[in-house]
Formats: sequence, structure tokens, C-alpha cells
Amino acid sequence: MAQAVGPEIMPERQPCKGERDLAWRVSCTLRRQQCESASPDAVSGPKACGRLVGMDNPAAEKAPNPWLAMTIDDAREYDERKETYPLRNHVALSRRVAWELILPHLPNDKSLEVLEVGGGTGFWSIRLALEGWRVMLTDPAQGLLDCAREKLLALGLLDKVTIMSADVCDLSAFASESRRLVLAMGDPLSYCGDAVKALREVWRVTQAGGVLIGNVECRYRGIDARRAPSWSDAQRILTEGIGYWPGPHHHLAIQMFTPSEFRSLAESVGWQMQVMRPSDLLLSLVGRELLNDAFARGIDLEELAELELRLGEDPSLLGAGTDIWFVMSKPR
Ligand SMILES: C[S@@+](CC[C@H](N)C(=O)[O-])C[C@H]1O[C@@H](n2cnc3c(N)ncnc32)[C@H](O)[C@@H]1O
Repeated sequence: MAQAVGPEIMPERQPCKGERDLAWRVSCTLRRQQCESASPDAVSGPKACGRLVGMDNPAAEKAPNPWLAMTIDDAREYDERKETYPLRNHVALSRRVAWELILPHLPNDKSLEVLEVGGGTGFWSIRLALEGWRVMLTDPAQGLLDCAREKLLALGLLDKVTIMSADVCDLSAFASESRRLVLAMGDPLSYCGDAVKALREVWRVTQAGGVLIGNVECRYRGIDARRAPSWSDAQRILTEGIGYWPGPHHHLAIQMFTPSEFRSLAESVGWQMQVMRPSDLLLSLVGRELLNDAFARGIDLEELAELELRLGEDPSLLGAGTDIWFVMSKPR
């Protein structure tokens, strides 16, 4: 389940005004930060900053991760957008389907702490905490974590969820083989800049027999106005699996996978793939307008979820979802 610029993803693929505004603000913040931190000898003024981070500088070695530039206000707005009609229905459907993947793997012993990587504003940590599980919520974006803390405080759940800043590519704060269940929901493996490194780190901290559940962006369904405003973008995505955030700036590349490629990658690290499913399948198959029509007619979410779950069993549709859901285990 992904979400918008920079910070984006949900089943949303068409950037709405709010997303474009957010993208723009994130880009501006990044530019401002780069201007402020750059040596005056290296760059001066906004134009030079544009060159420093712009797409016209392919040599830019370490492109910034736009999630890290989000403030708590951006995070609140990001959450709010997902609660706004009609996007909230798409988000609710996507989460309903995702919950079916998670449910069978929740530990019986609720004192075992679940690790969430790339947990952002804490939707899944909160969901688990509300049902009695303990969670370690990690993310490298402080603005998102601050927003998560605010929500957890309001819900009285801070005793159930520990918050820690961490990049999924560096989980050195966690002991090896210390986790039974790890969640990587909303595509952090696509955004972290090195999915193999991330998969190795999660592998290290996971116990034998433990499980990793999450999703990654799908290459075949990712070609839309948000990821590919031009033919060259579409071509790059199809041939290299590299997408970028909307806007003119050189952000960290987004890794967009084919199902078979992601499976091979995970298996090369040692994971055993248990389940792969397309996400947001009804949206892909019938389009936003018809699905909005279903929502407007009051068709029950459970009915839609049941249909989506059934269709998602068909292996021929695996590359048809906006993301690829996965459940993988570390062999005993
Ligand atoms: C679409 S959000 C999903 C948030 C949350 N998991 C959810 O499902 O609501 C993607 C998340 O990936 C996180 N992310 C980006 N780069 C990351 C990295 N290097 N390590 C871990 N998380 C990262 C972002 O900060 C953001 O919280």
C-alpha cells in the first residue's frame, strides 16, 4: 500500500492537487535544506541549488530521500488526505485486504514485540496496539514519527508502541534473530535506495521461522502520471525498474519490481516466499471511476474485499496490482 509524492502511495496513482502541493513543498524543503547546508563556495542562491539536486545533474551521488524532508504538518496532511473521500475508501479497501495477510502471522503471545520498519505515521502499529500487541515502530523520517507519537499519545497507546528512528538498511540497533514478525508496509523497500541491503538487515534480525510481511511498488502497474509523466520515464521504469518522485528534482530512486524479480531477489537473500499477491487489484481492473461508483452506491467494503481477495488468487494477475504484497519466512 503505497501513497503520493515523496511521501506517497496508497492505491493512488493519479496525483491530486493536494499531492502535487505536498510534492512541491517537500521539494522546496529539500532545496532549502541543501542550500542551507551547502558550502557557499559550492553553490549560491536558488538557481545553483536547483543544479545541485536537479535531474540535469545525473552525477548527483547521494540523492535525498523525500520522506526525510517531511515535517509533522506534512505528515498530518498526508494522513488527512487518506481520510478524505473518495481516497479513504480506496485506502480502507487496500488495508482491509492487507489485514488478511497479516492476521494469520500475528504471534499468539501478545507480549512478543512486532517490529515495523518504515512505519511512518503509525497506521499499522496503532492497529496492532489497539488489538493488544506490542510494537516497535521504526522509520527514518522524524516528521512522520512525531505525527505517530501524537496519535499514540491521544489514543493512550504509548505504553504499547515504542518509537525509534531507523533506516531499514541499518537495523544495527536490533539484535540478530530477535524478531518473530516484521512488517514493511507501504513500500519502504522500494524507497530505501537498496532493497537487497534492507532484505539482508531484516533477515538478520528475524528469528528462524519468523516472517516478513509487506509490499513493494510494481513495475508494470506503476506507469502513470505520477511516476511517468513522459515516455523516457516509462521506458526507464519498464527497462530498469527505476522510478522517481514527481517534480524536477533528483530524489532517491524508487525501486519498482516485477513479481519474478522481487521473488528472486528475496530468495537470493535466503527468504522463502510464502505468498505474493497484487495490491489494489479492483482499482487496476475496473479503474478509479467505476470503483468510486461502487463506493458511492454503498457497496459493502467486505464484499469488495472478498472479491479482491478472490481475484488476487489468480497468478496471472500478480503483476496487475499497483504494488506486490508479500509474505516471506526465514527457514528454520
Ligand atoms: C507509504 S509510507 C508507509 C508508511 C506506513 N508503513 C503505512 O503503511 O502507513 C512509506 C514509508 O517508508 C519510509 N521509508 C522511506 N525510506 C526508508 C528507509 N530508508 N528505511 C525505512 N523506511 C523508509 C517512509 O519514511 C514512509 O514512512
